[in-house]
Amino acid sequence: MSAELWKSAVHVLDANWSNDHMVPSRLLYPHQWSWDAAFIAIGLAYYNPARAWRDLRSLFEAQWPDGRVPHIVFDPAVPEGDYFPGPSFWDVPAYASRPARGSTSLVQPPMHAIAAWEVYRRSTSHGAACAQQATEELAWLYPRLVRQQEYLTARRDAGGGGLASLVHPWESGVDNSPAWDSAMSRAPADLDLLRRFHRRDLDVADAAHRPTDLDYARYMHLVVAYKESGYSDHELARRHDFVVECPGFNSILGAAEVALAKIAKVVGADPGVHKARARAITAAIVDRLWDESAQTFKAHDVRTGTLSPAHCVTGLLPLILPGLPSEYAKAILAEARSARFGLPGETTLPVPSYDRTAPGFDPLRYWRGPIWINVNWLLRRGLARHGFADEAEDLRTSMLRLVHRSGHYEYFHPDTGEGIGAGQFSWTAALTLDLLADKSVRAYAAAA
Ligand code: SER
Repeated sequence: MSAELWKSAVHVLDANWSNDHMVPSRLLYPHQWSWDAAFIAIGLAYYNPARAWRDLRSLFEAQWPDGRVPHIVFDPAVPEGDYFPGPSFWDVPAYASRPARGSTSLVQPPMHAIAAWEVYRRSTSHGAACAQQATEELAWLYPRLVRQQEYLTARRDAGGGGLASLVHPWESGVDNSPAWDSAMSRAPADLDLLRRFHRRDLDVADAAHRPTDLDYARYMHLVVAYKESGYSDHELARRHDFVVECPGFNSILGAAEVALAKIAKVVGADPGVHKARARAITAAIVDRLWDESAQTFKAHDVRTGTLSPAHCVTGLLPLILPGLPSEYAKAILAEARSARFGLPGETTLPVPSYDRTAPGFDPLRYWRGPIWINVNWLLRRGLARHGFADEAEDLRTSMLRLVHRSGHYEYFHPDTGEGIGAGQFSWTAALTLDLLADKSVRAYAAAA
């Protein structure tokens, strides 16, 4: 299957390249998305590293002066009506240093340092010129990656405990996860507001696979409220309706510091500061997001000081932190293997986005049940990192079998494996290349 699958993945990425960036999906997501760009770069590194660097550069060219990297960078060539909410809805302030591209004001999980390190470490296999470009790109990115981390750890520490808070479910990347249900119930749902706009996603995707109108009404409310504050992060915990700490987002924040420590050595900066930050973020995740009675990591609602009751795939992601104490790593393995997630043998399906045993488990609706490749890819990386080599290898095989059978879909039905959401989805294709190429988890663990 390998050669055929490789070819089909390259075909998806070639078809989704748009001048100087990759679109996640031509129809559903016609601009550039932040954490998508990182996962995509990891796959592009194998056959077109120049595009991997170009995509990351396009994204960071839209970085705000305060350090935030927007979750969508809008392509001015795409008509406003092709995506909602588009640039005019966000209406972000213009900055002298920014190119003529609109963006959102939200962030997404900071996967980019991890991606930049992955692209760099593959670069030597493409010859000297490529390795030289990789060193230059890494040097260009490093200060920008540092500012991104500093924005998240300083301005977004609304809870005061050393973690980044999210002000919108879109920032988590797992938009309609049940992890947000209780916190979102506080956000007013003005369906009239929604009626004034047109949900473009429903023109090009099945409504049963997407967040509901009620979700979207609340998403709109949160954007409007944030916009009215001038997209300020001042006193978020007091005045914003949705302020949460996500275990997935913050694990990626911590793992980014681990990657920055490696990048710092290449660019002649101090790795020590990044190692210390990684340790601090890991300790804060354990301190604030561990649910002792449930034996897993949960989302934390900063407004109420409570943990979400929902068991979500993001609770498994602290495993990507190399410094996670082994008792927590073992607990994550137990949770992943339980009936809630059913960590696979090689012939069964990858883990779903939500607890299979929960009454609200929905096999179709986005992050409320379907299988997603990016979080399984992260889980596999965490399993390898903590010495669970057989489980990591079974998960790799299971992901590849699924994509081979169903295609490069955005997500997959957790019972049948059928592809759902958008087809020809870039990060599924990109991570498939990595899973095909990066065969030995033992070799990976040694190199990492
Ligand atoms: N994921 C959101 C969407 O569906 C926005 O980032 O468009």
